[in-house]
Amino acid sequence: MMANLDGPAIAGGRGGAPCIRRRVGGMAMLALVAGVACGAWGGSRGWSAGEVAAMRSLSIAGLEPLPPDPSNRFADDTAAAALGHALFFDTRFSANGRVSCASCHDPEKQFQDGTPLGQGVGRTNRRTMPVAGTAYSPWQFWDGRKDSQWAQALGPLESPVEHGGTRALYAHVLAEHYRARYERIFGPMPELAGVPRVAGPIDDPAARAAWEALPPARRDSVSRVYANIGKAIAAYERRLRPGAGRFDRYVAGVADDGRAPDGILSADEEAGLRLFIGRASCTQCHNGPRLTDDHFHNTGIPAVPGLPDDAGRANGARQVLGDEFNCASRYSDAGPDDCAELRFLVPEGQALVRAFKTPSLRGVAGRAPYMHAGQLGTLAGVIEHYDRAPAAPAGKTEVRPLRLTPRERAQIEAYLRTLDAPADTPRWLLEPPRASN
Ligand code: HEC
Ligand code: HEC
Repeated sequence: MMANLDGPAIAGGRGGAPCIRRRVGGMAMLALVAGVACGAWGGSRGWSAGEVAAMRSLSIAGLEPLPPDPSNRFADDTAAAALGHALFFDTRFSANGRVSCASCHDPEKQFQDGTPLGQGVGRTNRRTMPVAGTAYSPWQFWDGRKDSQWAQALGPLESPVEHGGTRALYAHVLAEHYRARYERIFGPMPELAGVPRVAGPIDDPAARAAWEALPPARRDSVSRVYANIGKAIAAYERRLRPGAGRFDRYVAGVADDGRAPDGILSADEEAGLRLFIGRASCTQCHNGPRLTDDHFHNTGIPAVPGLPDDAGRANGARQVLGDEFNCASRYSDAGPDDCAELRFLVPEGQALVRAFKTPSLRGVAGRAPYMHAGQLGTLAGVIEHYDRAPAAPAGKTEVRPLRLTPRERAQIEAYLRTLDAPADTPRWLLEPPRASN
């Protein structure tokens, strides 16, 4: 009798209608459940072994501890993380004294800004990305033009439309306000007398000329301080982790034989989950506990009129190989056998054209608008996009029309909303630190 009850769940939905067999507490209830035909029981059937494996692979419970970052010796250094925490919120690290990382990456908005295009000293051409969990990603930015979080942080600081300053300015600001803390972590700050505040290898001709006028050894020592700013910020960002939500609680309650826990997901949410891991093929790219494969795909997202053409990964792959701060660079702490991702990167191929990084879907319902330039305003619009699978404006889309019914589209959306969750990050890390030196 028990063997029968605990055996594989009954897969008996009528006409293929999705139905979930309930797991209802004690033995008496189980007997009752087993005694009721699937159709009569709200059309329920259990999850198949394959589905159970698929949904478990998405659970946050499977998120491994972060592996060390060999390119950043300070990645797991507490003092470096505390310094990075301060730098992340400090507007003095900008040309106009008004922009910090947190200006666009607002901790109250999952470290993004809820607008189609990020706004700093000027306006960016892409949407601000959330930060929690991105330390796991081998590539940073929508096009992966950076291969670590410390190298990533150095991009916006010298971007004319984001922080708008130069590495010489940042070295000076650091020496003026954080010298003691910096030196306790990274060793002596180099002499900066004679280094102009506006100097760096950026497009601005005056800043570039001032930079090139410095002897190479001085340029190198300023760049080293600059790299350390990135390493401290990365140490902070590594502590920002996605948390568990309703979906994860549900998966934790699914029995090995496929019986579903009661009262966590609605029937529509369960049906959406079934489509997500099944017929709608979402897990082809949105897989693993962060619901991303960390790869780049062309999904036929329309271009934005008025913005320059965006070739996505086709540019990013070339840029990361030439990046001054990549894993194989002189500023990296990695050994010759590290940096496998970079060494095996092939920067060519039609598949890279307009391919963008698969975003994590954790907390996605709270982060409209969507896609690399905020092209789609709502989750319903995103799912409709996948359903229609239009041709890509350049390159070739990897997605095929899904032929979903309106009900099924709504169910997938309902499922995505179960991925909402608070960050698994202590509150104080989400606020600017108290002033200290
Ligand atoms: C002006 C707004 C703005 C500012 C300021 C800004 N960012 Fe960003 N951030 C963005 C945008 C836009 C992107 C995506 C850009 C792209 O792909 O080209 C991004 C991407 C990122 C990513 C990549 C995440 C991923 O999944 O690949 C990280 C990490 C990040 N920013 C951290 C920072 C840090 C650290 C700072 C401060 C040093 C900072 N940002 C300053 C707008 C901003
Ligand atoms: C071929 C890989 C692939 C498949 C299949 C896929 N996605 Fe995506 N998804 C991506 C990529 C890449 C992006 C970002 C595209 C861009 O910005 O140009 C994305 C973006 C999204 C976003 C927006 C997230 C954000 O923060 O902007 C949502 C929501 C989403 N996908 C849900 C789904 C759902 C639901 C399915 C199944 C119906 C699905 N995806 C299937 C690769 C994929």
